[in-house]
Amino acid sequence: MTVHFIGAGPGAPDLLTLRGRDLIAACPVCLYAGSLVPEAVLGHCPEGARIVNTAPLSLDQIIAEIRAADEAGQDVARLHSGDLSVWSAMGEQLRRLRAEGIAFTITPGVPSFAAAAAALGTELTLPGLAQSVVLTRTPGRASSMPERETLENFAATGATLAIHLSIQNLAHVTETLTPHYGADCPMAIAYRASWPDERLIRGTLADISDKLDGSVTRTALILVGPALAGEGFAESCLYAADYDRRYRPQSADSPWQGWTPDSEEPTHG
Ligand SMILES: C[S@@+](CC[C@H](N)C(=O)[O-])C[C@H]1O[C@@H](n2cnc3c(N)ncnc32)[C@H](O)[C@@H]1O
Repeated sequence: MTVHFIGAGPGAPDLLTLRGRDLIAACPVCLYAGSLVPEAVLGHCPEGARIVNTAPLSLDQIIAEIRAADEAGQDVARLHSGDLSVWSAMGEQLRRLRAEGIAFTITPGVPSFAAAAAALGTELTLPGLAQSVVLTRTPGRASSMPERETLENFAATGATLAIHLSIQNLAHVTETLTPHYGADCPMAIAYRASWPDERLIRGTLADISDKLDGSVTRTALILVGPALAGEGFAESCLYAADYDRRYRPQSADSPWQGWTPDSEEPTHG
């Protein structure tokens, strides 16, 4: 018996990996985090599967479900939204499973920040504007933040910020970031990216709050940084016509001339 942790993606049932879809279809038990995983994703479960929404369960109750499946020799598909490597509560379940000697696998998923960027038609790292993306959040009722992981500290880098779990703290976010990025810094809010009722709100640190009505209260990602403008950046060297690179040597005496994936790296200059 194995528990298959599967990143269920941002919401759309076809934004799953093929491996994830096939594992869901093969497991007679499915435990899903119903606060964020939409029912549409459960369409991949086999007929007759035992499907349990774990949103109202405690960790002990979730582990009891897994133990029962273990005793029945039934594999479990364990679904969490987006990717499992961030804010999935997978870590505490893995620790319990390790202690109980229950086998597990992990299949990554499409994270919400990637789905939001796609919906916005945006690259989050643009030459000269931002070369880092910070995945972060603000403190919540159930989760404090480590002391040095402040918005101010991340903002000091000027990187693109992907701020999760924080739509209810929007006023604090814009107020904190404005001295670092400037009031006219572009930002966007993606509500339920990839869901049928997806909404995208674009604006600046100064005016985004005015563009929101009160209906966006959860499942929204806040993206901030100069890269959100999608302009004002140079083209990358990588595809520049005169850039000498292993796949496109520019002259007969290029050190990359004759290079193949099996060759040694040439020494430059
Ligand atoms: C508990 S975290 C889960 C993050 C998830 N593991 C991931 O990889 O994106 C929930 C937060 O992720 C963001 N989120 C998840 N799904 C989203 C979606 N479809 N659109 C926008 N934001 C989403 C929101 O900020 C939400 O508050």
